[in-house]
Amino acid sequence: MLMLLAFGVLLQEILANAQDENLTDIKNIPEVPLYSYKSINVPEEHIPYFLHNNRHIATVCKQDSHCPYKTYLKNLKSCWGYERSCKPEYRFGYPVCDYVEMGWANDIETAQQIFWKQADFGYVKERLDEMKTHCKPIAKGDSSLACSQYLQHCRATNLYIDLRTIKRNHDRFKEDFLQEGQIGGHCNFNSQAFMAEGQRKSPLQSWFAELQTYTPLSFRPIEDGKCDIIIEKPTYFMKLDAGVNMYHHFCDFVNLYITQHINNSFSADVNIVMWDTSSYGYGDLFSETWKAFTDYHIIHLKTYDSKRVCFKEAVFSLLPRMRYGLFYNTPLISGCHGTGLFRAFSQHVLHRLNITQEGPKDGKFASQYLHAVPTTGKY
Ligand SMILES: *[C@@H]1O[C@H](CO)[C@@H](O)[C@H](O)[C@H]1NC(C)=O
Ligand SMILES: *[C@@H]1O[C@H](CO)[C@@H](O)[C@H](O)[C@H]1NC(C)=O
Ligand SMILES: *[C@@H]1O[C@H](CO)[C@@H](O)[C@H](O)[C@H]1NC(C)=O
Repeated sequence: MLMLLAFGVLLQEILANAQDENLTDIKNIPEVPLYSYKSINVPEEHIPYFLHNNRHIATVCKQDSHCPYKTYLKNLKSCWGYERSCKPEYRFGYPVCDYVEMGWANDIETAQQIFWKQADFGYVKERLDEMKTHCKPIAKGDSSLACSQYLQHCRATNLYIDLRTIKRNHDRFKEDFLQEGQIGGHCNFNSQAFMAEGQRKSPLQSWFAELQTYTPLSFRPIEDGKCDIIIEKPTYFMKLDAGVNMYHHFCDFVNLYITQHINNSFSADVNIVMWDTSSYGYGDLFSETWKAFTDYHIIHLKTYDSKRVCFKEAVFSLLPRMRYGLFYNTPLISGCHGTGLFRAFSQHVLHRLNITQEGPKDGKFASQYLHAVPTTGKY
């Protein structure tokens, strides 16, 4: 994408210089869009929000007669709500509370704010505000590791995982799967701060068990040739809930979508690696839904067994049963409704799966159906 962008900018410059010399060439060039707008692939109503957070694409769009999103460029103020640059009057939505549940809040305004943080884009903002860099890169080519509180979600670059001697059994989420030195990166690691994040260590609540042996390495895994496999494609790691149960499995999808907001990346040109320490497969009755998130098949971690595998760009997704996270049993303030986050999720998934709306055009049926899925109708 970046290459394309750079190419586009370069092309424009060359064009400007060549303008007087050869007019025949110029006529041919603008046949090609400067950006692959198709790859954005989000619902039309999300485009303004997407452009708000991807100014470089907005800039290219401005210069490109092929950009289909020109009408949105006049007003790039629309935002999801979690961005620093977001003014409340321009956000995607804000919940409504019909009454105040005592014990949670004293007035409607506070109730709405609580609900927004619990189950709307305020939830993304809270996770973003918690982000801490635990392993700091010092030089170019170094690794990094940054996580939200309790390692509920992390982003790692140039991550090294050594699966040469691991042992698998029936346990899907073995907590001592990786030993010291088998996972890590070349960066400046704050071990003390990292170890203090372990309070919610649990298979579907935190990545602490998987990352607790993260080790600062003396070598640069990729540059120093220590990887048997190098995964260039951005990769999401996920620990999945029961794939045969719609309520559970949609908690996986919702949390992946929220993670994509946190990372501001919605490309489907990504790998999804299922972190599973057993050698079992995964029964998935809703596997079609993955197509909303990746163009490829889901990869079992065991695919890389007996290898040292390095990931240039990895994100550990929010998990499906986090305490106070978003799952089927989230404690929520009552009396409130209208979360934009879940509306956006259902719009996004329906769009990517090419599910078109027949009948009522306000999207009520389909979106309410998807709202109900991960939440027992609470939202
Ligand atoms: C201008 O473009 C034409 C067609 O591509 C080419 O044949 C010609 O050599 C070019 N002239 C210059 C001065 O680059
Ligand atoms: C997360 O965001 C970064 C920064 O934009 C990007 O380089 C990376 O590819 C994203 N990761 C994933 C897994 O999409
Ligand atoms: C949706 O439609 C587009 C364009 O026709 C197609 O490329 C894509 O594969 C479809 N996606 C799914 C999930 O069917």
